[in-house]
Amino acid sequence: MEKIKIAFFDAKPYDKIWFDKLVENYPFRLKYYENRLEGDTAVLARGCSGAIAFVNDTIDAAAIDALYNEGVRVIAMRSAGYNNIDFKHAFGKVHVLRVPAYSPNAVAEYAIALLLMLIRKTHRAYGRTRDHNFNINGLQGINLYGRTIGIVGTGKIGRIFIDICKGFGMEVVAYDPFPAKDTDIRYVTFEELCRISDIISLHCPLTKETHHIVNKKSIADMKDGAILVNTSRGALIDSGDLLAALKSKKLQGAALDVYEEETDLFFEDFSGTIIDDDTLTMLLSLPNVLITSHQAFLTDEALQNIAETTLDNLKAFFDGAPLANEICYRCVKEGTCRKDHVARCF
Ligand code: NAI
Repeated sequence: MEKIKIAFFDAKPYDKIWFDKLVENYPFRLKYYENRLEGDTAVLARGCSGAIAFVNDTIDAAAIDALYNEGVRVIAMRSAGYNNIDFKHAFGKVHVLRVPAYSPNAVAEYAIALLLMLIRKTHRAYGRTRDHNFNINGLQGINLYGRTIGIVGTGKIGRIFIDICKGFGMEVVAYDPFPAKDTDIRYVTFEELCRISDIISLHCPLTKETHHIVNKKSIADMKDGAILVNTSRGALIDSGDLLAALKSKKLQGAALDVYEEETDLFFEDFSGTIIDDDTLTMLLSLPNVLITSHQAFLTDEALQNIAETTLDNLKAFFDGAPLANEICYRCVKEGTCRKDHVARCF
């Protein structure tokens, strides 16, 4: 039987390891492209019936139309987040599938790793000892024990992160417009969370409501010396306002795995290049800022789950089966999607 061709965009060596291992058991032939998916590159899907994409692809109207014209009827995201898709434009043309949870533990564990590194300055200590400099002046940190941490978004990742924080003996408060009912999490308003937290960690999706949820005003509400952790999406934070707050010492530090203008930078090697983003270069130059390039998900377990679920999603699509992991603008915005009744969004 001839295999169904699928265009795999933004392919990285670590993706191929698991997809190559698993795809033999599926009726697909993957055509790997290092290019990001966008209007101009969608033509690479010529001859393919589906596309696989990731978080920094630009899946706007131009990309969707170009894919549709090439005969693509399904986009399988290898991610949980989906803020880079024009869902309204995709509706009725191209089904969008995602991997709702590949390893919330991977992201939650990474968030605490970043936080610990920032507050105990282990990144600086590592550099020193490798240089045979065993001086510890300036490396003093702070304890987590007893501090209040505010969690914004108590979904899969947020709740695992809360358990980790409780293990450190921290006081946990949370804000979520849809509070979990089966927990003893202490929910407060976002304003109160800002006011009482020593550390704030973002675990909500990027939506119209959460865009720049951390801005000049919410930072002003925060405690002097508060610390910010963001392993969710860059545009939750107004980076200009964050930089100003760090320079004025209103905030004590920031640990970021995401950045609002990351699309053209993250996952690529620009060493030796002058980066045309003054806010990012300033942030990178500050000793109390840690930035990594969207790698919180990057564990063996998560990569295996991503490959398995993405291939299962595509198989369900081509088998005409119900699409549990399909998402559309109605699921996202209005909660009125008909999927519950007919197993597909359209
Ligand atoms: P989830 O869908 O399980 O939980 C999200 C939570 O945010 C829900 O409880 C929801 O009610 C809440 N929420 C929605 N609107 C909100 C608002 N306005 N304010 C506060 N909370 C709000 O999602 P999950 O799996 O926990 O992932 C969270 C986010 O983490 C994803 O949206 C994605 O952006 C990010 N992520 C980052 C990764 C990385 O490698 N850095 C990897 C995977 C996810």
